[in-house]
Amino acid sequence: MLNKKVEEALNEQIKLEEESSRVYMAMASWCESNGFPGAAQFLYKHSDEERMHQTKLIHYVNDRGGHAVLNSLAEPGNVYKSLKDVFEQVLHHELHVTASINALYHLATQEKDYTTGQFLQWYIMEQIEEESLVNGILDKMNLAGDNKGGIFFIDKELAALGAPAAAPKAT
Ligand code: FEO
Repeated sequence: MLNKKVEEALNEQIKLEEESSRVYMAMASWCESNGFPGAAQFLYKHSDEERMHQTKLIHYVNDRGGHAVLNSLAEPGNVYKSLKDVFEQVLHHELHVTASINALYHLATQEKDYTTGQFLQWYIMEQIEEESLVNGILDKMNLAGDNKGGIFFIDKELAALGAPAAAPKAT
């Protein structure tokens, strides 16, 4: 059974993952309508992944005898200055998520809820991967600077990263 403090903190995380999904959906839409189809594809996929992070938390809370609830969300930013601005904001957002996961892990440990601590390990590893991915994209954007050809090439690369995983072959 989850204790109330941990349950409330997990519900806050559920809200944050849902918010992430909406923020990336808004960014994807901006990219799609501003000539960056690859970045849009990448961000639509990323939005789906955040939704999966949210759902995984919901199941966990309910499986542990708690009640996962949804909260109201603020309107996401719908306007961006540039593609680089989008990805700078992705990084900023992910750093915020990482801090939140770390605080949640700290609370679970303090409350001697080692099961939740164990469950959160997956999120801790996921954050390392996501931060590193976005940092890599921003490094390339910084190298490209204002070079339109460079940005076009990065958008193509993002399309590949955002492509759905190939379906396993039928045997
Ligand atoms: Fe679920 Fe990108 O944090």
